[in-house]
Parts: sequence; structure tokens; C-alpha cells
Amino acid sequence: MSEPVTMEKIVSLCRRRGFVFPSSEIYGGLGSTYDYGHYGVLMKNNIRSLWFDAMVQEREDILALDSAIILNPRVWEASGHVAGFSDPLIDCRTCKLRFRADKLDEAHCGRKPSKHPGEWKECDLTEARQFNLMFQTRVGAVEDASSVAYLRPETAQGIFVNFKNVLQIARRKPPFGIAQVGKSFRNEITPGNFLFRVLEFEQMEMEYFVPPDEADRWFEYWVQARFDWHVKYGLRQEKLRIREHSEEERSHYSSATSDIEYEYPIGWGELEGIANRGDFDLAQHTEASGTKLEFVGEGGERYTPHVIEPAVSIERIFVAMLADAYHEEEVAGRQRTVLRLHPAIAPVKAAILPLIAKDSAMVGHARSLYEELRREHVVEYDDGGAIGRRYRRQDEIGTPFAFTIDEQTLADETVTVRDRDSLAQERLPIGGVRAWLDDSLR
Ligand code: GAP
Repeated sequence: MSEPVTMEKIVSLCRRRGFVFPSSEIYGGLGSTYDYGHYGVLMKNNIRSLWFDAMVQEREDILALDSAIILNPRVWEASGHVAGFSDPLIDCRTCKLRFRADKLDEAHCGRKPSKHPGEWKECDLTEARQFNLMFQTRVGAVEDASSVAYLRPETAQGIFVNFKNVLQIARRKPPFGIAQVGKSFRNEITPGNFLFRVLEFEQMEMEYFVPPDEADRWFEYWVQARFDWHVKYGLRQEKLRIREHSEEERSHYSSATSDIEYEYPIGWGELEGIANRGDFDLAQHTEASGTKLEFVGEGGERYTPHVIEPAVSIERIFVAMLADAYHEEEVAGRQRTVLRLHPAIAPVKAAILPLIAKDSAMVGHARSLYEELRREHVVEYDDGGAIGRRYRRQDEIGTPFAFTIDEQTLADETVTVRDRDSLAQERLPIGGVRAWLDDSLR
């Protein structure tokens, strides 16, 4: 039986293999910000591009957008973020820690961690007060109130304020969508749990504009479509569930929200949210800007479309996929750690390994196979150390296939292909490797 997967194990593997590092580590780091190393970047690129393919490339009804991170601050007034994007916060005068008032039962007392804040005799909690999660910055050289601006806390508003531009230029008719991927920033009070809740994250949001009487149907459609996407790229169904928000829990703009939750090593948590935002955003921006954000049909009919929004961060997907893929097992009396990532998500698709690094004929074959494959796929050449250690290294970064060039290759021009999950090995003609890999990754 495999040991349970803990967040510590995932953090340690990410560090050890160069997926993720604590940010600005040589200065002691900065809580809940991270830097991505080579494999982390490759894996994030895969998640982003598979999301983009499903949203834009494979559909006719969704267009791409890349709006600015710093918008006119009036955007955030109209959207309700300046007044309402806040969490209730409590300070403890004894341990000087800060807690979310609505999450005290998940927090630990700073002095007596076995107790929740407020439960220990020396706890001295303040009243709850509201704390806005937006990072403020200033635009221009003059530090007066008019120069205050915000780092966007969601990408969605950049889409709403471009609704008219897109509608006019692309000449679309609802239902149609606008998709955007980009960094969002939140000054989270209780960050932590590795990448699950971080201060800056890459959001992937799509606003789908529909005739009001079709909103319920499209809401159901997108909940299912996004659930299926996560399953398609490897998350186990039994680790996923859909949870409808109660009326009290829903955001001010939403008439229905469902979370796709994943059972992370820290428990069930929101992976992706799908919200029916109604006409809230377009109506707010119409009123605040004086620009009508509505659809006018050829026959003169006009209405404000309703919006269905699937919203997720690459970080939440990244952690879920690593947790799902992480396995420790014993093979032929030896321990191995393996990431059983979906091949489309895996940072490296195949390793090319000459059995004996000092054998120039083997190295020559391996290098030319590597040169051929790297034109199409992310592959890695490795001739350092014993073959067993090289396999284990590739297992830990989730490489689905390894091609080994050995003595037999020199005799008959075949190579061994090793499957990461089954460990099965078969021989292929070296000339057919490229087509075999193309097929296996399709
Ligand atoms: N536009 C709607 C919106 O932003 P949200 O539920 O606040 O809704 C959407 O965020 C998604 O963004 C979440 O489901 C989660 O995947 C991701 N997310 C939110 N805050 C995050 C954070 N601090 N760190 C990592 N991901 C976060």
C-alpha cells in the first residue's frame, strides 16, 4: 500500500527536482510567493495551453483577450471590489497573529497551536474588521489620492470593460465568450498550503455572454464541461466533486455558483468556480462609465447579456495534478517515487538514454535520436550516472517514456522503450521512434 500523499512530500519533490522554489529565497523568501523552475514552467505551459485549446482553439464561439493588469481604478469601484472585496480580520494582541474571523476553526493559536485562536486563556482577540484584499499601487510621480491604482484581483473585469470592443470588431451574437489568462493578485490574509493560496497567481477565466433566458442551461453546461476537462487530463473522478454554494455563501454578483472541488492533501478545496453572474457586471459598468454594454440585434432587439463564468488558477490545477499523480511504490525491492502525470501535462515527454555514456557509438545514436525528437516534443537527453538512477529521476518528473540505446541498438538498429507506469519494455526500430511517440502522445 502506498503511503498517503502529503503536501510536504509534494513541496519536497517540487524543490528537489526544480519544479518550484520559494520566492527570493536567498533573502529568506516572502510568504506564499513562489518561483517556478524549468519543469514547473513546462508543466504550467502545458496546463495553460490545454485550457486555451479547449476554450478557444477547439471552438468557434470564444475569442481571446489579454487586458492590462493595472486598469482605471473606477473599474474596481464599479465592480464592487473597492467597497466589498474584503475578508473579516481579527488580530490577537498576545501572539500578534492575524486570522480570518470566519475561519477561526481552521486556524491555530500562535502560542498554543493545539487550540484555535480565542480558545486559550491568554488569547486576546480584537473585534473583526474588514480588510480589502486588493494590492494598491500608485501610477505616476505624484503621490496624491488621484494616483491610486490596484493590481487586478481577477482577470474578469478586463473582459467586461472590453465587451463593446470585442462585440463590435468580432460581430458576435450571444452566446459567445471571451477568454483570458493572466496574473491576478490578492493580499490574502491566510495564505499558505503551498500554491493553493498565493499572493499572485495565474487565472484562467472565460466570460460566456448569453441571452438571459438561456443562462441556467449554459451554467449547467459549463459546470459539466469544466469537470470533464479535469478528468480528461488525469484527475481521478473520485477525488473530484461539484459543490453548489448556498445563498449566504454566494458572491454579491452571483445568482448561482458551483465549485469543482478536489480532495487535496489538506482536504477538499475549491479547484475551479463556475458562477452565473447575471447582468451584474455589464449593468454596473454601463452605469458607471456611461457606455452602454448591451447587445443590439439586427432587428433592433436589445438586451444586456447574462454571464456564465468558469474561473480557475493554474496553481490550483498544478497542485491537484501533482497530488493526484504522486505515487510511492516498491519495484523489485527498491522504492521509487513516480508522478503518473497525463502525458499532455508531463513537462518532459520522453528521455533518451545511452546505456553506456563512454560508448561513442551509443552516444552518437542517442544524440541523433534526441535531435530528431526535440523538433516536435520536449524531450531530454541524459547520460549521467547508472541507468537505474536515470530512470528514477525521469519517474520523479513524470516523463512517460524512456528510450534506451544499448548494445543491441548497434547490432540491429532497435531501441528499448520503457513505460513509466507499467514499467513494460519493448523494442522498436530506431527509425520508427518518432512516429511511435507522436502516436502515443496523441
Ligand atoms: N472572477 C471570479 C473569481 O475570481 P474566485 O473564486 O475568487 O472567483 C477563481 O477565484 C479561481 O481562482 C478559484 O477557483 C481558484 O482556482 C483561483 N484562486 C483564487 N484565489 C487564489 C489564490 N489566492 N491562489 C491561487 N489560486 C486562487
